[in-house]
Amino acid sequence: MPYKVAVLPGDGIGPEVIHEAVKVVRATGANLTFEEALFGGAAIDGAGEPLPASTLALCQSSHAVLMGAVGGPKWDNITPPEHRPEIGGLLRLRKELGLFANVRPAKTLTPLIHASPLTEGRSMIDRVVMRELTGGIYFGQPRGRRDDGNTAFETSVYTRHEIERIARQAFDIAMARRRNLVSVDKANVLETSRLWREVVNEIAADYPQVSMSHMLVDNCAMQLVRDPSQFDVILTENMFGDILSDEASMITGSLGLLPSASLGESKGESVFGLYEPVHGSAPDIAGQGRANPLAAILSAAMMFQYSFGDGATAARIESAVESALNDGLRTADIFESGTRLVSTSEMGDAVAERLASA
Ligand code: IPM
Ligand code: MG
Repeated sequence: MPYKVAVLPGDGIGPEVIHEAVKVVRATGANLTFEEALFGGAAIDGAGEPLPASTLALCQSSHAVLMGAVGGPKWDNITPPEHRPEIGGLLRLRKELGLFANVRPAKTLTPLIHASPLTEGRSMIDRVVMRELTGGIYFGQPRGRRDDGNTAFETSVYTRHEIERIARQAFDIAMARRRNLVSVDKANVLETSRLWREVVNEIAADYPQVSMSHMLVDNCAMQLVRDPSQFDVILTENMFGDILSDEASMITGSLGLLPSASLGESKGESVFGLYEPVHGSAPDIAGQGRANPLAAILSAAMMFQYSFGDGATAARIESAVESALNDGLRTADIFESGTRLVSTSEMGDAVAERLASA
């Protein structure tokens, strides 16, 4: 039976980069079917809400979701906030689909090794942030405004179960990598962090081969800049993971190239997942053929690895990307003198051709 992929192009540059990712996935020759649906601002315009029931149903009946990006100035002032593309669209989709584990690799692509803004980053970096994605302050109740509107509040909640399942995924990933895991929290202040530490220590006992330590989040932010090479897997809660994953990714100098996977509970070899670039919808450059499709293409590679249990095809896509970069092709965001400037679709073509001939 072919795998079914739900395609959610979304807003801004989302449709352009997703088009290239689908092109590349087709070029792998894999037996897949694609079905597209409205999501985010595009769905507000087309169907009156950021996550229409038909879009959610499509995702639920698919093996994986390939998503572009959501949001833009056009929808920034929508009230209540639950109707915005980010909250009513993306956060709700993550929750509805049970995507509690966000895997955000930050890996140097060899041809771009000098692109890091920090000298410390200009060596091979290969690390992954495992971010808890459906709990904590993003979702805790109650939240809102009090009385006269001058007091606002959110609530951060974590249960033992939520911490256990993300910790297990992180330790499993660490086992397949360099077996080093740093769990990041703010246990000197937060009760949720003290529970986090307690539970992570318990799970760690099941993984004696993984060397594990705890780090406070402010220290981690500093250590990432001071010596990024000390990290392999960083395990952390929703809010800290949002911030640290952007920091960790920029150290490689190529935010426009970084993929991500949001995973549910794994079933044997494969796991349901949503795959999206780490970058946003970049409305300022939408429709100009300037967007870098490589993050979307590399997100599709992660889909093969995690949802289809096909690491070989994932590796083929990754080497086709490296080969296009080695040949000097660059989209505007990573262009420098001596390289060849190409458009979004030319970059997609280049990767697809290299795949077909590999
Ligand atoms: C991310 C984004 C989202 C988040 C926003 C768009 C809601 O920043 O995926 O990192 O905070 O999770
Ligand atoms: Mg973010």
